[in-house]
Amino acid sequence: MTRIPTPVTELLGIDLPIVQAGMSWASSCSALPLAVSNAGGLGVVAAGPMRLPDLARTLDEMVAGTDRTWAVNLPLHRADADEIIDLLLERRPPVLIASQGGPRRYLDRFHDVGTRCLHVVAGTEHAAKAAAAGVDALVVVGAEAGGHPPPTMVATQVVVRAVVTAVPDVPVIASGGVADGRGLAAMLALGAGAAQFGTRFLASAEASVHEEYKAAVVAAGVHDTRTVGRGLGVIRVLANGFAGRMLELEDSGADEDLRRKTFHSATLKDAALHGDVAEGKVEAGQSAGLVDAVLPAGEIVERIVAEYRAALLALPRPQDG
Ligand SMILES: Cc1cc2nc3c(=O)[nH]c(=O)nc-3n(C[C@H](O)[C@H](O)[C@H](O)COP(=O)(O)O)c2cc1C
Repeated sequence: MTRIPTPVTELLGIDLPIVQAGMSWASSCSALPLAVSNAGGLGVVAAGPMRLPDLARTLDEMVAGTDRTWAVNLPLHRADADEIIDLLLERRPPVLIASQGGPRRYLDRFHDVGTRCLHVVAGTEHAAKAAAAGVDALVVVGAEAGGHPPPTMVATQVVVRAVVTAVPDVPVIASGGVADGRGLAAMLALGAGAAQFGTRFLASAEASVHEEYKAAVVAAGVHDTRTVGRGLGVIRVLANGFAGRMLELEDSGADEDLRRKTFHSATLKDAALHGDVAEGKVEAGQSAGLVDAVLPAGEIVERIVAEYRAALLALPRPQDG
């Protein structure tokens, strides 16, 4: 088994610095995270949209399906986040990746049961606060990302370096636009200890989204995403009818009520479960333009490692005169 040791792989006990991003619906299941963890990366169950009994069943499947490290992503804004936290404390996942909230709410309780706690941040201030609170590692998300890019829209290349410099003692996982082994090499060169891949794993055999969704990701070019929802929680989606209407309203200065109504008239669920790629929220990153095939997740991990090796070998070495 290939290993690429970094501070993140050492912390989490994984072979490869490859994290499959928690993605609502797409990884709200065991198949994708199991495939990634069993291939040596970190598979992440996205608890975001899951009902409590479905999450409990999925956690059982994770325990039965692997003896490797895996994680649960919990967006803390969920109305019933405390119930989910109680379930997770009972089940003790190896790793928790919390997003959209502050770490103090959960950190000590998860550390007490032996769960490693990673926190998703979008900038240096947020990162410094999470580090001071005692998180084990940070997931740093840049503007290229699918789903929820940072409101400041600072690119991954820039925000990762800023956070690594500002918080040098906490391992960092870089997220947003990474997509392949060249991206992984770039992120490790910037000082991250691993990279997180969302859009790349959306186009995997095991992702639990509709085949139309996967086909739309594969068909998209690098210019085919839009960011919509200013002031409402910006999301990056593939261009479609919904994104076009939102942009028109935003560009014409429409009042917030109308923008909010239109924003909530479309859902990720419609796109992910029912294949409504024309009018749903088809969340995906700019790197959709770098993804050209739906592949088994284990093969994606192998490809990233092969591309990473090739990228390192292709780098020019300094020649001292
Ligand atoms: C379809 C989709 C759903 C997502 N759902 C979540 C989520 O539930 N929780 C979360 O923290 N991030 C979520 N994200 C963001 C990812 O975790 C990750 O940061 C992003 O996909 C990385 O960028 P990339 O897509 O360019 O690889 C989602 C992204 C996508 C594409």
